[in-house]
This record gives sequence, structure tokens and C-alpha cells, in this order.
Amino acid sequence: HPHVRYRGADLVVDDCVVADLARRFGTPLYVYSRRAMLASLADYRRALAGRNHLLCYAMKANSNLAVLQVFAEAGCGFDIVSGGELERVLAVGVDPARIVFSGVGKTRSEMRRALDAGVLSFNVESDPELDVLSEVAAAAGKVARISLRINPDVDPQTHPYISTGLKANKFGIAHAHAVDTYRRAAALPGLRVVGIDCHIGSQITAVDPYLDAVDRLLDLVEAIESHGIAIEHVDIGGGLGITYANEEPPSAELLMKSVLGRLDARGHGQRKLVLEPGRSLVGNAGVLASEVLYLKPGDEKNFCIVDAAMNDMIRPTLYGAWMGIVECTRDAARPAFRADVVGPVCESGDWLGRDRELAVQPGDFVAVLSAGAYGMAAASNYNTRGRPAEVMVDGSDVWLIRERESTADQMRGEHLLPVR
Ligand code: LLP
Repeated sequence: HPHVRYRGADLVVDDCVVADLARRFGTPLYVYSRRAMLASLADYRRALAGRNHLLCYAMKANSNLAVLQVFAEAGCGFDIVSGGELERVLAVGVDPARIVFSGVGKTRSEMRRALDAGVLSFNVESDPELDVLSEVAAAAGKVARISLRINPDVDPQTHPYISTGLKANKFGIAHAHAVDTYRRAAALPGLRVVGIDCHIGSQITAVDPYLDAVDRLLDLVEAIESHGIAIEHVDIGGGLGITYANEEPPSAELLMKSVLGRLDARGHGQRKLVLEPGRSLVGNAGVLASEVLYLKPGDEKNFCIVDAAMNDMIRPTLYGAWMGIVECTRDAARPAFRADVVGPVCESGDWLGRDRELAVQPGDFVAVLSAGAYGMAAASNYNTRGRPAEVMVDGSDVWLIRERESTADQMRGEHLLPVR
């Protein structure tokens, strides 16, 4: 990846030596490149220029305020999934009219807050949610702009845990019931139909599932509009994959061209296209730097024990995801050691990589690559481990964008029982 590479012996992000950042800020440490994020965004925009569209960054991938700020300043909208995410985007001054609110389990208070803010669309996922939203909006004297998330029943050919557009998934409204649900929605108080959406999965490496989904959505748009219900925008979700190992996803530009081509071919070229990319905007912009603590040879396996763990980066543990792990400083004189790279957490599932060849000694730094998406955003405090610090770089500029979480931070809000 152009923004994360070796310069001589040193792994650099932009012009910053990762090992220097690790020494300066401590480890585990997330390092992100603003340039890489903006380059990923530009890839989408090359194809979307001049087209009626709104690109909503799916902030669940990485919700650090400074990351949101980068996309907000670039004019992006946001896809949110909770009241907490709403507060974060509002904190960076995002225009609520650029926010879509996804998720199968929105609470009444989250709905109320998003109504007050005035979001572009509630992406509604079920009939009962529609009824509750109607009630909440009517009671508040507001109109909720809605889109129905359709389950198009297409196979995105990705990991079962992150495929979301199959009939067996909990997400969305079945394609077969969609027209009826739209007719019901149009008649409910407090609601205004504005769009249709889907999200078929994540880490998708083919164009075809998207074109199938677009076709399925456009079939519905035509049927819904024939009942006199106008659809302003078509939201095809996110899901474009990135290269972790040897995946070859289409570029965002190619994907967008293909999708726009399909809209044009079906006479929907003027319709507003909404997108919700997460991983493809931030994944390859980040690394997770970690210090090697111990090399532990074993009879069956060797272990390279590092100071980052499953609580800092859960993707390998949760999905068996393969992520690149490299030395921050290459040293030809170091002997290579084949080992599982594991963290200090008390779980056999606490591993970052298996059977990796690394030429490292205790005290050296390694980096988990492509860690910008679903890394820090899914970090936890398991084993009372403070979450990592995060830095943003741009060229040779470096900013601390989140302090390392202290144990005091973790205990804040806990209360002892009264003394007996
Ligand atoms: N829109 C909706 C409604 C979503 O549920 C998601 C992701 C996105 C957009 C953004 O998808 P992306 O462009 O990032 O693929 N933790 C998993 C990924 C979970 C994705 C959840 N939904 C992982 O680390 O692979």
C-alpha cells in the first residue's frame, strides 16, 4: 500500500517511522494516515463526480473524532448505528441532513434524538420498528424520513459472520414483502418515505453481487413508485473489501462505474445514489504497532508474545481473519522465528496471526497491517487492559488523536458497596 511501506529498513506510515512513534507514544498504538484515507475517498469520488450522490462514511469502522473530522471536512455524510455514534458526528459539526441511521435495534430514545437532530433517513429494518418510529415521531410532532432496508437475498461470497443480505440473516425486510411494507409506511402518521436501502455484507471482493442487489432494489423502486410512493434515493450500503493477504477487490472507482452503469442502463441515472462504505475508506490507512515481549519456543509450536491482544484487535479471534504482521525494523542479522503471534489475554483464542515468520527479538516492534477498520472501534477492556492510544499522521506531521486509556479511566463510574 502506498502509504504504509518500507523505507530502507523502516516501516513507515507516510513519512513517519512506525518504530519511532511506538517509542514516543508507547504500545499498543494505532497509527493512521490521513492521506491514505483521503486517497481512498478520492477513488470513490473519481467515478461519482457530477453524479447525484451522497457518500456516507460508515463510522462503525473507525469512529475516532479526528477520523470523523477528516471525512466531515472532505464533505462526506455519515452512516450511524447508535445514539452514541450520533453524538460523535454531531460533536464534529456534521450537518444532520447528511446522516443515515442504520441498525436493527434502534431504541425510542435514539429515534427521538435523531428526529430532533433531523437526520436524512432512518434506515428501517422491520415492521415493528416502523410502528415504533411512527409513534415516536407523531408524539414529538416531527416527521421521520425513512428508507426501508431490503434484504435482497444475494450472496456476497464473504465470511458468514459479515454477510448480511441473505434470507437467513437478521437484517432487513424480505424482498417479497417490501412493496406491502412501503404501502403501510406511506400511510402511517409521522413518516415520510424518502428512500430504499440494502447492505449485502462486508469485505466483498466482486462487483457482481452489487449489480444483483442494484437490480433487486430497482425492481422494487419501480413497483413502489407505481403505487404513487416516490423514492428519492437508492442506498446500496457499503461492503467493498480491501487487500489483507492476496484478495483482489475491484477498485472503488471500478465498482462505482459499474453500479452507475447499471443505474443508467435501467433509466435511473438521475436518481440520488447513497453509499455507506466503511472498511474501504479506512482499513488500509492504519496499522497497529506492538512490542514483542517474549519469544517462547515450544514442542509443537512457537509463540511470539506481543503486547497487543484480542481486546485491541478482535478480527483474528472473531472471524479467523488473516492480517499481515511485519517487523517495524527489518534487520537481516536477526534470525527468523516461526511462531503464532499472540497477546497477553488469558484465552487460547487470543492470537493475532498464526505460523508467521518474523525476525524479531523482545523489545522490537511489529505492526499488524490494514488495521484501520474494525480495530480500535471494536476494542474492549477485557482483562482490564486499557485501550490503545491512536495517532494520525500526514506526511511527517503527527497528532495524538486519542490518549491511551488509563486504569483510572476504566474504573471511573464503578462504585464499591457500602462498608459493612
Ligand atoms: N452499512 C451497514 C448497514 C453496515 O452494517 C456496515 C457494516 C456498513 C455499511 C459498512 O460496511 P463496510 O464498508 O465496512 O464493509 N467487524 C467486521 C465487519 C462488520 C461490518 C458490519 N457492517 C470485520 O472486521 O470484518
